[in-house]
Amino acid sequence: MSVIIAPSLLAADFAHLADAAAAVHGAADWLHVDVMDNHFVPNLTIGLPVVTSLRRATDLPFDVHLMIEAPERWAPGYAEAGAYNVTFHAEAAEDPVELAKTLRGLGAKAGLAIDKDTLLDPYLDLLPHFDTLLIMTIKAGFGGQAFVPELLDKVRAARRHIASGHLDIRLEVDGGVSMDTIAAAAEAGADAFVAGTAVYGAADPAAACRALRALAES
Ligand code: DX5
Ligand code: ZN
Repeated sequence: MSVIIAPSLLAADFAHLADAAAAVHGAADWLHVDVMDNHFVPNLTIGLPVVTSLRRATDLPFDVHLMIEAPERWAPGYAEAGAYNVTFHAEAAEDPVELAKTLRGLGAKAGLAIDKDTLLDPYLDLLPHFDTLLIMTIKAGFGGQAFVPELLDKVRAARRHIASGHLDIRLEVDGGVSMDTIAAAAEAGADAFVAGTAVYGAADPAAACRALRALAES
């Protein structure tokens, strides 16, 4: 399966999100949109109205990452707003499988996210209901944090489980993914890579996407 590069708008200029999308057009596969509610994580970003407006400003697929409580309340709205993939946190969902079914029923891909301090094992049996498994490589909440290499053990375990079960699911990493860390994440088995600072902190975001892709594929 080819590599997915998903720049995170969290590191972009929030006054110019459409420009940030345009800056990676043709170089990125998905646009990663971090939604935070100041409850599930101690930070607040953007919500549905911004995603709805931005949907009209770019044709890049949206990879929405919901770092919110009660995702049942909000996730379907992102699918209806045209998100390609809607990922919610395992720690926040009451019934992850039910919500995945709802998202798929609305025509979106369903993603399950596992935060830094959450064990993967209890969720492995749920993976057939999901299109994306997002393993955080930092603690969710803020961009610009250092990659935690120990968390790649979860990526390796997930890759083994996916391979042995022949599951059709993307294995995504998010947090601290950079030119220095992406190869290790790919080696551990990730095939989708979120990068905020490494893309939007670069002078040329499209070139940064291409460089990250080359490292992930090597
Ligand atoms: C943080 C977000 C990430 C964030 C990553 O909780 O989920 O998507 O944008 O930022 P970097 O790539 O700078 O670590
Ligand atoms: Zn994210």
